[in-house]
Amino acid sequence: LFARPWAFQTSVTDMANLPEAAGTEIAFAGRSNVGKSTLINALTGRKGLARTSSTPGRTQMLNFFSAPETPLTFVDMPGYGYAQAPKDLVEAWTALVFSYLRGRPNLRRVFLLIDSRHGLKKNDLETMALLDKAAVVYQIVLTKADKIKPTQLARLEADTLVALKKRIAAHPEVISTSSEKQKGIDDLRAEIARFTSF
Ligand code: GTP
Ligand code: MG
Repeated sequence: LFARPWAFQTSVTDMANLPEAAGTEIAFAGRSNVGKSTLINALTGRKGLARTSSTPGRTQMLNFFSAPETPLTFVDMPGYGYAQAPKDLVEAWTALVFSYLRGRPNLRRVFLLIDSRHGLKKNDLETMALLDKAAVVYQIVLTKADKIKPTQLARLEADTLVALKKRIAAHPEVISTSSEKQKGIDDLRAEIARFTSF
């Protein structure tokens, strides 16, 4: 699945233009700059597939990427919680992200990315509450694990698991990754293969 050439499918800015809800979708959500686009590139082994930037707010649309010969789609989402962007723009992205997450019938799992240096923030908890309510299974993926010490990472993993205990739709496992160092990428691929059976 991940050795084959993934391709860009489409970008949309509003719910009315979403592609037909066919096949299985997996979305990558999280705060701005957490590493969503970079992780998609690491998973698919295609560096330039999703556009990345050190400036938060790079991804401004829902971007769909399709797996070759398989009805599986990755959705790269605009990040939330980016204070410096124009307020109306942020509100538009956030509304798009939330309505997509709440209303997409073929959305099989959401990988909710959390920066290892920051842990769960208020807006991450809000996203989790929305997904609990929508009964969409979400799994926490810690990113940028190369930026902190292994002992700190282990503590964050444990704390995050505790925070997930009371959650209805949370998948009870956390995966730590570093797109930079290729850490955890194979684990995440294996997890995807397991629940999609592609
Ligand atoms: P938005 O599209 O703005 O929501 O951001 P995003 O979540 O898609 O983040 P993006 O993938 O563009 O990455 C943001 C920055 O983090 C870039 O400078 C990446 O190079 C960096 N980054 C992403 N993953 C890692 C990682 O695993 N380790 C390190 N050190 N940096 C990373
Ligand atoms: Mg992005």
